[in-house]
Amino acid sequence: MGLQHFTRCILLALCILSQGLAKGADGFACNWGTRLTHPLPPEITVKLMKDNGFRQVKLFEADPDALKALGKSGIQVMVGIPNDLLATLATNVNAAIAWVNQNVSSYISKNGVDIRYVAVGNEAFLKTYNGRFVNSTFPAIQNIQAALIKAGLGRQVKVTTPLNADVYQSDSGLPSGGNFRPDIQDQMISIIKFLSQNGAPLTFNIYPFLSLDADPHFPKEFAFFDGSAAPVVDGSITYTNVFDANYDTLITALEKNGFAQMPVIIGEVGWPTDGTANANIKNAQRFNQGLINRIVKRQGSPKRPSPPDIYLFGFIDEDMKSIEPGPFERHWGVFNFDGSIKYPLNLGGGKQLVGAKGVKYLPKQWCVMSTQANVQDPNVLADSMSKACTYADCTSLSPGSSCSGLDTRGNASYAFNMYYQTMNQRKDACQFNGLSVITNINPSPPQSTCQFKIMIDLGRHEKKSTPSSAAPQGNVHFMIILLSSFIFNLILSLFV
Ligand SMILES: *[C@@H]1O[C@H](CO)[C@@H](O)[C@H](O)[C@H]1NC(C)=O
Ligand SMILES: *[C@@H]1O[C@H](CO)[C@@H](O)[C@H](O)[C@H]1NC(C)=O
Ligand SMILES: *[C@@H]1O[C@H](CO)[C@@H](O)[C@H](O)[C@H]1NC(C)=O
Repeated sequence: MGLQHFTRCILLALCILSQGLAKGADGFACNWGTRLTHPLPPEITVKLMKDNGFRQVKLFEADPDALKALGKSGIQVMVGIPNDLLATLATNVNAAIAWVNQNVSSYISKNGVDIRYVAVGNEAFLKTYNGRFVNSTFPAIQNIQAALIKAGLGRQVKVTTPLNADVYQSDSGLPSGGNFRPDIQDQMISIIKFLSQNGAPLTFNIYPFLSLDADPHFPKEFAFFDGSAAPVVDGSITYTNVFDANYDTLITALEKNGFAQMPVIIGEVGWPTDGTANANIKNAQRFNQGLINRIVKRQGSPKRPSPPDIYLFGFIDEDMKSIEPGPFERHWGVFNFDGSIKYPLNLGGGKQLVGAKGVKYLPKQWCVMSTQANVQDPNVLADSMSKACTYADCTSLSPGSSCSGLDTRGNASYAFNMYYQTMNQRKDACQFNGLSVITNINPSPPQSTCQFKIMIDLGRHEKKSTPSSAAPQGNVHFMIILLSSFIFNLILSLFV
């Protein structure tokens, strides 16, 4: 009897353990942007997510390669719909049905992708869009919801729409003064009512970095979770960081309009590592470590103690992103473009961030300015640099960035190399009016964060048919259950 009870306990413990392995107790969530000249292979990216405890991912569009790699990975997916599709989806329910069929239903049934949300539009009410998407967002949400129901996915997949934090504001400057922007108030209420009726959440992007970077008078310490800025006192509540103050402005806006219980997701939050003076490794590590500590502790805000799901922005750097918002835009990744670590992060439970494995690179060679070249005609040099930086990412040369301390020669070399690498080290990609030469000595300045990169070898990744490294996890889970029930029976047959 006693032994039977004992073995039952072991069996139970093994089952719980295997459950824990497959699901992960407290997972992280991230945004996977795919605007890269040399994208990390999707299978390696998904493995990197799993290795670091990411359990939810948000895609900005239904990227076929990303979705296929996420199949049977155990990672839950939010699939985005770009703003340019909103007008069509708003006016044409058949377009919404086709979108759901191609971009949701088939990935669930054919590829085993665990799609949980469709994000309709991306920051569609952003002030700088001047109302372009204001009338199409709500009807597009309604049509996608109808299409999900038609596809039999009404319960499994929820609609939402990620909004920028500029949709709410506070006249008093305090969180308790929060309300929605008057010009979109009606649309907000319609959307919230509709999402609420369908058991779906609202999604907001909150960026302390942008608050700091846009305003020279912003108290820097208030941007961080461990900051020592003078706190903001709002009635009985004391705010020590801008994230909580901003989030509670939203919670107040929801309460004021009768939606105190509305579930909220943070769709994007993070800190870039390059491009401007505030965008550096030290600040990014400090901010993201503070954020991760909150996620691990399941800490909410003063007004809403239950924590929202928080999607980090972003997972990896994207060297093709538009730099209209600023040169930092290509450096939001927790990881570099190749999945290597930028800075350590403590993920809780004694776990540290780990980098990507199995990445193949182009040969160890760089394109630099030749020592023989002399810059007699500055126009020739300027033309060459301009050509290089039109096609390649030179944002690390921007004022305050990691490579901003280089001299004229270093500058030119950095630009030439970025172009050469971006063009896959093609021979004719290191020909800048006789100013450049190929070298196999790493030109990165010593004791500097400025790195002369070598890109991923896309050809070598494509040739090799990568077996899905994602598949075995589910099987391991199953095998542990099988094995434990086998041991259980064995012990029973021996002793009972
Ligand atoms: C599915 O999504 C992709 C990527 O956004 C898009 O190009 C395509 O048009 C979508 N399919 C349909 C039927 O709308
Ligand atoms: C949105 O609809 C309103 C009311 O019908 C209209 O006044 C406004 O011009 C429309 N906005 C745009 C950008 O189409
Ligand atoms: C280097 O290049 C950057 C970007 O083109 C420019 O802002 C900077 O002034 C240059 N510095 C030198 C020393 O030439």
